[in-house]
Amino acid sequence: MHLNTHNNSTTNEINIIPIIAIDGTTASGKGTIARRLAKHYSYNYLNSGALYRLAAYILQKQNFDFERYNTLRKQEQFETEEYKAMEQQVINAGANLSPIFLDKQVLVDGTDIWTAISTQEYGNYAARISPTKDLRVAIHDFQRSCIKLPGLVAEGRDMTGVVFVDAICKIYMDGTAEERAKRRLIDEQKEISGCNKTLENVLSEVIERDEKDKNRFSGALTLTEDSYYLDTTNKSIEEVLEEAILYCNSKLQPNN
Ligand code: DC
Repeated sequence: MHLNTHNNSTTNEINIIPIIAIDGTTASGKGTIARRLAKHYSYNYLNSGALYRLAAYILQKQNFDFERYNTLRKQEQFETEEYKAMEQQVINAGANLSPIFLDKQVLVDGTDIWTAISTQEYGNYAARISPTKDLRVAIHDFQRSCIKLPGLVAEGRDMTGVVFVDAICKIYMDGTAEERAKRRLIDEQKEISGCNKTLENVLSEVIERDEKDKNRFSGALTLTEDSYYLDTTNKSIEEVLEEAILYCNSKLQPNN
């Protein structure tokens, strides 16, 4: 197990710190449920997607060409000087990230950058760089350093299968693509003034993102055998939360 200086807990303590690891498809509601669970149990919260978005934000400021990087990867030009230089830039952007997560806020040097990085644009940039294996390795240690008392709720794509394989609670959140597209459209209409997307536009974005998240080479979204499959279709946030708490309680206090 890798630990770094962000974590003051000893290895023995870390082994007993409860972790709720949540993975899920895009717009499945995992962010909302993870934050609500963290509040419910008074646990710490890790939004791992924000780390990839943050790395993308740093790269964007360096005028990184995400499309070009994506093209080189698709063409498997891994041995070219151009690809190697870009890959190193991506890895460097992920090194030494240590934001503070406060509910929805992502604080970097005391400033909340969540509004800037929560856009679809940064989601797409993050999806382009996130298959980079050594970027994932660079972020791995920070993620493990978030294991702190009294517990941790961590959400993302590889929480249950890679980063927190030892988590006591593992949840995989999903829902039909149509329902997730409807939710995403409502969110975007609330957040972006003059949003003129149609349900068809958003549905194809959701299907495309699912495809990318599930089929990439490194850190692919996977339903692990020991995860609780939480289908959110036709359920309210409160109903989903109740189901998640019932499952977590059964794992955290098995004798009650
Ligand atoms: O959860 P999100 O939409 O903020 O994630 C943005 C992108 O980051 C997503 O397309 C895939 C990537 N990601 C990842 O590769 N691994 C994670 N643990 C979380 C997100």
